[in-house]
Amino acid sequence: MPSTRARLAVLASGSGSNLQAIHDDLVARGAGATSELAIVISDRRAAGALDRARNWGVQALHLPKDRDAELLAILEAEAITHIALAGYLRLIPLDVVRRFHGRMLNVHPALLPAFGGPGMYGARVHAAVLAAGARVSGPTVHFVSEHYDEGAIIAQWPVPVRQADSVDALAARVLAAEHRLYPWCLHLLTSGVIALGPDGRTRGVPDYDFDRELP
Ligand code: GRF
Repeated sequence: MPSTRARLAVLASGSGSNLQAIHDDLVARGAGATSELAIVISDRRAAGALDRARNWGVQALHLPKDRDAELLAILEAEAITHIALAGYLRLIPLDVVRRFHGRMLNVHPALLPAFGGPGMYGARVHAAVLAAGARVSGPTVHFVSEHYDEGAIIAQWPVPVRQADSVDALAARVLAAEHRLYPWCLHLLTSGVIALGPDGRTRGVPDYDFDRELP
């Protein structure tokens, strides 16, 4: 019987801890999983994300930056239906953004629309949060649009900023929240609970409580 599951591509440049969380969630859902991890793509040959994929027997592809233009053809050849960006540092080609409108998610390590936009990634985000004196940060999962960090928000998770926080300490606290929030959002999308509406806003996200486990 042909699979009716979504075929997920994860694009990652770094260690891939969010990739790990997505994988673990799919394994934990077992027969209830609504997507399968079809391919992991990285612009960095040495990305830990590629090693993780190989260890699971998932296709791992190194796509160097001078081959960005091939991305859409690769995704189509693999019959990919959904994309999760997980710490991918390359700009996604416009043809891919358009083809995967409403089917591509990103996780950003701060509460958008603050602390986002071009150049705001990795440690810079947390440094900016600390410099601003913000007392709350946390991940945002959003649809990917043609403008950096401006796609419709799906879910956020508040994480306290401590007086003694270093960039690394804050990053680690936010990352732990990403690992809970991102797989949940992907599941909501691939199971058809949420969608990007014609008005450019996310519809269908269930209410969730910050002091409880996600449903
Ligand atoms: C995360 O902080 C994510 O928010 C950002 O890149 C980082 C990726 O970390 N987009 P990892 O490779 O998943 O550990």
